[in-house]
Amino acid sequence: MDSFSTLIRTASHEQHVEAETSTFMSDMLGGRLGVDAYARYTEQLWFVYEALESGTDRLAADPVAGPFIRPELMRLAPLERDLEHLRGPNWRASLSALPATRAYADRVRECAERWPGGYVAHHYTRYLGDLSGGQIIRDKAERTWGFAKKGPGVRFYVFDGIANPAAFKREYRELLDGLRADDLEQQRVVAECKKAFALNTAVFRALGEEFPLSA
Ligand code: HEM
Repeated sequence: MDSFSTLIRTASHEQHVEAETSTFMSDMLGGRLGVDAYARYTEQLWFVYEALESGTDRLAADPVAGPFIRPELMRLAPLERDLEHLRGPNWRASLSALPATRAYADRVRECAERWPGGYVAHHYTRYLGDLSGGQIIRDKAERTWGFAKKGPGVRFYVFDGIANPAAFKREYRELLDGLRADDLEQQRVVAECKKAFALNTAVFRALGEEFPLSA
């Protein structure tokens, strides 16, 4: 039988391709959108990471979710620095969530409060993605909008506390393989991961509508 880390990766593969090739992502990474689109996207991430990270003190003690809570992953502080760079010192005043972002953040918060296994699904979908494809996004963003390499504007993608991302991801997969969950709960977690991808794709769709190329 496949390990849980293989199961969750395989099960979400199709949706990964969908997210990766969404119109908004393709346009943004293809250098066809302005820095305002990147800033708007970064702003949406703030709401998602606020939901992921505001309950971590409590979740750290949870037998299921606890092992995944690692200070070196926390993204809210770097996101806030990026937003300050992108939007200026008053970035907080103009911060607004798209309805799709609100729905995504609400679901993350609900899992964080009530269902540790579901929280792990959201944790995996974001942080392992940030450590992987996130590095491609950072590189494109630096080239497209001229941010300093690993500097303000792309701090979100820089994990100072993770010297070896490949090793970190290997350890992360071991944590997934050791998840305290029977078969049924594993299936539920996989389903929540698919939902997490769908929630991301919905945010991309909304951003694509806000930043249409043909407008
Ligand atoms: C253009 C955008 C994206 C690119 C270029 C990209 C690229 C990649 C690449 C190359 C990997 C494999 C890295 C490895 O095996 O070590 C990966 C893994 C991953 N990506 Fe993405 N990705 C993108 C968007 C996303 C999005 C939007 C999500 C979800 C929110 C996501 C979630 C993940 C996850 C969870 C993994 C880990 C899979 C696993 O090994 O279990 N990615 N991505």
